[in-house]
Formats: sequence, structure tokens, C-alpha cells
Amino acid sequence: MSGIAESMTKNGSGPGTAVAECITARRTFAIISHPDAGKTTLTEKLLLYGNAIHLAGSVRARRNQRSATSDWMAMERERGISITSTVMQFPYKDLVVNLLDTPGHQDFSEDTYRTLMAVDSAVMVLDAAKGVEPQTLKLFEVCRQRNIPIFTFINKLDRPARDPLALLDEIETVLQMEPVPMNWPIGDGDRFMGVYERHSECVHLFDRTVHNQTISPELITGIDDPRIARGLSDAQHEDLLVNIGLLEELRSFDLQAFRQARQTPVYFGSALTNFGVQLFLDDFAEMAPAPGAYPSDDGPIDPLQRGFSGFVFKIQANMDPRHRDSVAFVRVCSGQFERNMSVVHSRTGNTMRLSRPYRFFADEREVIDEAFAGDIIGIPGGRRDFAIGDTITCEEPFNYAPIPRFAPEHFARLINKDVSKYKQFRKGLEQLETEGAMQVLYETDAARRDPILAVVGILQFDVVQARLDAEYGVATRLEPLSYQEARLVQGPAEKIEALPWAYGLLRTKDKQGRLIGLFRSEFEVGYYAERHPEVTFGAVN
Ligand code: G4P
Repeated sequence: MSGIAESMTKNGSGPGTAVAECITARRTFAIISHPDAGKTTLTEKLLLYGNAIHLAGSVRARRNQRSATSDWMAMERERGISITSTVMQFPYKDLVVNLLDTPGHQDFSEDTYRTLMAVDSAVMVLDAAKGVEPQTLKLFEVCRQRNIPIFTFINKLDRPARDPLALLDEIETVLQMEPVPMNWPIGDGDRFMGVYERHSECVHLFDRTVHNQTISPELITGIDDPRIARGLSDAQHEDLLVNIGLLEELRSFDLQAFRQARQTPVYFGSALTNFGVQLFLDDFAEMAPAPGAYPSDDGPIDPLQRGFSGFVFKIQANMDPRHRDSVAFVRVCSGQFERNMSVVHSRTGNTMRLSRPYRFFADEREVIDEAFAGDIIGIPGGRRDFAIGDTITCEEPFNYAPIPRFAPEHFARLINKDVSKYKQFRKGLEQLETEGAMQVLYETDAARRDPILAVVGILQFDVVQARLDAEYGVATRLEPLSYQEARLVQGPAEKIEALPWAYGLLRTKDKQGRLIGLFRSEFEVGYYAERHPEVTFGAVN
């Protein structure tokens, strides 16, 4: 047994000091952004600062490979493991940082949301010319549901940008969060010269000639350095001085408010040219929370007070047709995990020995011997043994709070092309639904019994079809439907009956037999809710 393992106190009274130190050194976060705001670029730079240069290259490679759907599917099959579900771990100062990749672009799906269930903080990257964009907003809302602290990095200041005050204003009104600028940009576009750091009152000037791939040396000086006035037009310089004067008036950063997700510290910079990344990372290292307590049916589980426990936030099927295994991704929530450990699977009560746990590094995986609260481990045999949200623990069984389902936005009927494969079709759908690949609804009124797939991201349709074909030998056809909203319909039977089901409203049932109405728009939902006050149209989760 390792020294660290020995230091675990027995009888479930929680980890010892060495384990506690490993846990409090963990910082587990994800970057949320709208496509093209600079998530990949910022990830690369952060990895450079974390000396994980070998990982930085593969991040970009992965993004490029992902850009074509067909390539993505081929890669998934070839590697037998999702390339979209990686965790990058790197040391920074005394910390061990886990950066969880949230798939973006066309591979946006429910998995993207679920990944946010496994982090302790998030970094929101905004494009300085665009501000808060739709996908950022969706991801932000998931973070807000969990009250995760959020850092904001306003990127691409080396390009023409919107007025910094207008950007802050937008964060405040759209996201209902107090933005606190930690630094202030000096110029933008061709005249971007660096940032003024509020707390030190120093200016960090950046050297444009430094190659983008390297860590840029920063020249620290004062706001009255003549080079600043020379680099800006008179009007810009005056503006800058006025704004810096104004900063005094703005609210200051409050760690407590940040931790409670009421404030977001804002950093201006340019990931591509490496402006402001280290300033951000240094603050991140100081301010980002260590693994916190997760809610459960046994109360909040303190990571430092309990032995190993964790929950499955994602299951990824092995696309390798030779062996249909899959991996369950577990967020370690408390204590220390050790290879060969016996754990209880709370839902089934089964005890299992975990002999081949994986750690994921960009596009590689390796078997690990130990992990700590805050880390992510992959356990083979995922689909056979686990469902999304399952808890495993080395203590008395309990269950972490369920992972919420996210509102589907795309709907399509799935038609089995070969009736003789009916059984495989049903089985495949059932398993893929358990895995959380999509939700399945059945129309109640019509003679048509073809299932309706409900998904968050449109690529989930392709994934379901490809996997039914590859893993169950079932060829299918998809008929897109024009509905946009699914709502749980509840109320007195006769009032529900009186809804205009025949006119554009679709009556379906889900796996639990609940009545789910499909609507063409949110406006329609509001319209019916107003006319039928005895009926409720709740969120499906
Ligand atoms: P994403 O992962 O959020 O989708 O964004 P990504 O980092 O891939 O960045 C999207 C585009 O924006 C890339 O250009 C990238 O080089 C550029 N970019 C990122 N940060 C900055 C920045 O600070 N300043 C400037 N000027 N550009 C930035 P691309 O042409 O689409 O890709 P590539 O050819 O550079 O790979």
C-alpha cells in the first residue's frame, strides 16, 4: 500500500492529511464559449503555461479533425473512445489543474452540459467584438443552475473590439452577474498595447514580436509610461485615463461573491498573441475553488471527510466494432481512488473491483493507480454496469443528486428500415437512451409507432443512427420534425383532452409514461398556457 493510501484513516472517517493535501490542490474546470471565440486557443496557451506543451499541439489537431462530421465519426470508431471527452491535467504552481473539454460546434450535445456537472468552476471566453453569444448563454445557464464560480476572459483584443464598458454592461444585463474588471485593455486592434492591472496599478506591456507559440515576456510599467501615450491617439489616451479613473468607482472584487457565482472577474486579453493569459492563470490559481461538496441523499458530501466516492457523468460507447465495450466517466467527488479498489454501486447494491481505471490525456489514455477528489477517471464496462448519474463509493451506499436532463431542441422520427430487425432496433434504442445519447418519445394518438428522438444537439441524431447501424446492425431513416419545445403536460384529464392536439400540437409519452407535448415554438407554449390555465406545461427533466 502506498504512503498516501496508508494515510487514509479507516472506517470511513475520511482521508488523512496527505490525501487532503492532494485534494485541496485540485482545480477542476471547463471553458465555455461560443464557437470561434477562442476556446481552443486559450486551452493551448494554458497548457503551455502548465508546461504541457505536448498536449497543446494535440488540442488544435483535434479541433481540426472534428470540423468535419464524417471524420469525427471515423475517428471515434477507430480509436474506440470518444475524442470529445478528454481531460487535460497539468501542474501549475502547487496545483494540479484538470481542464475538462466541453465539445462545441456541431458536436454540441447533452454531453456538453453534463460535463459541466463535473467541474468546480468555469471560464467563459467571449470574443471582444461579439460579446455574449447564444451558445455561451446556454452553457452559462447550466453553470448558474449549479452556482459554479465563473471567470470571464474577453478575447481577441488584438482585433477591433467593442467598447470594454459596453461589454461589461452586456455581461451584467444578459447574464445577471456582476462583472468586475481585474484589468483594463489599453487600445484594441492594431493599437492594442497591453492591459492595466487594477490591483497592482501596473501596466503589462506586451511584445508583439514574440512568437505566438511561446510564453511572452511582459514588461511591467506605470500608466504614465510615455510609450503608452505614443502608441495611442490623443483621444484614445484620454479615454484610457478617464476609464482608469472610473475603475476606482467600480465595485471591487469580492472573493465570497465570486465563489457564490454573483460576481465574475473579467480579464481582457488575446489568447492567440498570448496577451493577458498568464495574468489570468495566476489569478485562476489563487481564486478558483478546490473540489467542493456535492449534494446527495445523505446530505452534502465533503470531499475531505469521506472515503472514495464519485458519480458517472458520461458514458461513451466504444465504437470499435470488435468489442462493444464502453467507458463510464466518473467524477471523483470525495477521498482517494486506488486501482483494484472494491466499490459499491449504489443503484444496484453490487460490489465491483475497479482494476483498469483510466486517465485521459487529450487523445491518449493510460491506466492509473490513484486519483483524488476533483479528478476524472474512466472505467471500462461503462454501458453494461452503469447509467448516467450512478454513484460508486467505498463506504455505505448513498446516491449523488441526479444529473438534470436538458431540454431537447431538435426532434425527428426514426424509422427502422428493416422490420425483421425490430428487436435489435428496440434494444439499441433502449440502451442508447440509458446511456443518455438521446430521449425517446412515442406518439400516443397516431397509428404511427415510430419513435421520436429528442436531442439537444443535432449531431446526436447522426451518432444514434451510426451506432444503431454499427452496433446493432439496424439501418434507419430520419424524418426531421418541426417542433422546437417539449413540455411535461399536467392537469385534470378533461382539460388536457380539450387542448387543440389536432392543430400542430403533438401528444407523446416518454419512457416513464409521462405526457409530453411537442410545440412548434416557445411562443406557442405561452399561448396555450394562457388559454388553458388549469394545465401546466413544465420543463422535461
Ligand atoms: P474555438 O475553439 O472557441 O472554436 O476557437 P479557436 O480557439 O479555434 O479560435 C477561433 C479562431 O479565432 C481561430 O482562427 C483562432 O486562431 C482565432 N483566435 C483565437 N484567439 C484569438 C485572438 O486572441 N486574436 C485573434 N486575432 N484571433 C484569435 P481560425 O483562422 O479559425 O483558425 P486557425 O487557422 O488559426 O486554426
